[in-house]
Amino acid sequence: MAPLRILQISAECTPFAKTGGLADVSAALSRYLAAAGHDVRLVVPLYKRVKERGTELRPVAGLQDLKVELGGRTQWFSIWEAAAPRSSAPVWFVRAPQYFEREGLYTQDADEGQRFLLLTHAALLACQHSNWAPHIVHAHDWHAALAPLLLRTHYAWDRLFQATRSVLSIHNLAYQGVYPASMVDELGLANERHLLHQDHLKQGRFSYLETGILWADGLSTVSETYAREIQTEEHGVGLQGLLRTRSERLKGIVNGIDADEWDPASDPRIPHHYSAKKLAGKAKMKAALLERVKLPGTKSAPVFGIVSRLTAQKGFELVHDAFSVFLRREDMRLVVLGSGEKRYEDFFAWLVQTFPDKVAYLQSYDEELSHWIEAGSDVFLMPSRYEPCGLNQMYSQRYGTVPVVRRTGGLADTVVNWDPATQSGTGFVFERFDAQSFYQAVERSFGVWRDQSAWKQLMLNGMGVDYSWERRIGQYVELYHSLASVRR
Ligand code: ADP
Ligand code: GLC
Repeated sequence: MAPLRILQISAECTPFAKTGGLADVSAALSRYLAAAGHDVRLVVPLYKRVKERGTELRPVAGLQDLKVELGGRTQWFSIWEAAAPRSSAPVWFVRAPQYFEREGLYTQDADEGQRFLLLTHAALLACQHSNWAPHIVHAHDWHAALAPLLLRTHYAWDRLFQATRSVLSIHNLAYQGVYPASMVDELGLANERHLLHQDHLKQGRFSYLETGILWADGLSTVSETYAREIQTEEHGVGLQGLLRTRSERLKGIVNGIDADEWDPASDPRIPHHYSAKKLAGKAKMKAALLERVKLPGTKSAPVFGIVSRLTAQKGFELVHDAFSVFLRREDMRLVVLGSGEKRYEDFFAWLVQTFPDKVAYLQSYDEELSHWIEAGSDVFLMPSRYEPCGLNQMYSQRYGTVPVVRRTGGLADTVVNWDPATQSGTGFVFERFDAQSFYQAVERSFGVWRDQSAWKQLMLNGMGVDYSWERRIGQYVELYHSLASVRR
């Protein structure tokens, strides 16, 4: 099939600006599409953080001093480029200091909606000013979700976009970008008002994500199970009805992992390397990790790892309820990296105080340490309440670190429960979101741990699964091609 021109619009991109999996996915998807011969541009904001990490940037010729009218005000921006490591897909940064050079990536500021609408306009204007006609505009999450609407309205006059089709990927339905209806004019969307969800406008609100779901030519989400779940009352976060009406257009594509970036045999962020054939380095990583986080070394006790945003999504109440029992009873270690809601941070800090020889908690965001924990742990905990895809359970399997996960979203699609009779499976899966089910899954992990030959088999099963993007990219390309014939 002929190569495509693909514009990706995302609020995050590894390694420049990351709070979670979206960054890994937008970067890897762009890179692997480019490697497959497609012409890809990834557009992200030029946050203060991108500058602070010393990224080498250069202005893109012809894309300087551009402007867009947003609600009667002229906003200036320009496009800068960085050579992404090992990538043939350029990353285009939208430089608009008044909007993007703030402390974090996301803010609670009143103009949060405008910031990401500017990103979206900037991406489309950059296409126009460089006379680059995308076949596909691929918008990620609520931040870019107005792109499909704008292509049908604001930019519809331009023949450049005549053959352009839009895709919206939902990485997390809980974040929708909902704003008061009174902001519609301020955002310069007065002419588009009749295309927004009319009932919700009447109720006084409008939503970026909902608008995207209404108008995107194609919809995708990041696992097959999540694609089904979001059409239900339980997981639909109010959008289930709309998603059901568009279900023919909604495809679940499980995320891949960047198999070069996350490879225990060559990972430059860890000091000891290993593979399924030569496992010795894993024991060295375990020792190194425990030393680094100042816990007593052990060969016989399992190390449990957590690397996560600490939000309600991730289900750490279950750890709260189950782990004081295990920590009291078992010889074990727990290493936790992550920050977020105070109640979870306080809980892990309390665990450290109560079990100082068994628990280490690093309340930070630390990319290198996240690789150490993947490599140096024996078990990885993801008891998520919901999980659109999840990446760490796949990184864990690749690193021979056995995941304990709840059967939800992408966790259900990527972890197979261990079956002692057939010695098959790659982790421990539990069904119900309650402490008892989680407790039993962890208990099973202790059981298998005591039989080290079974444990080795379990590790090797996970290490042998291919989660790479090469396997996924074809599904996106198929989706893109299937839209070429969609009539508006
Ligand atoms: P989500 O996007 O919901 O946070 P994912 O599992 O898809 O969940 O992706 C999380 C990504 O963010 C992983 O690459 C993980 O290693 C990384 N990550 C999360 N918290 C931290 C942290 N505190 N330090 C370093 N990396 C982190
Ligand atoms: C979201 C989801 C996570 C998913 C990631 C990348 O942050 O919470 O499950 O893996 O997006 O798609």
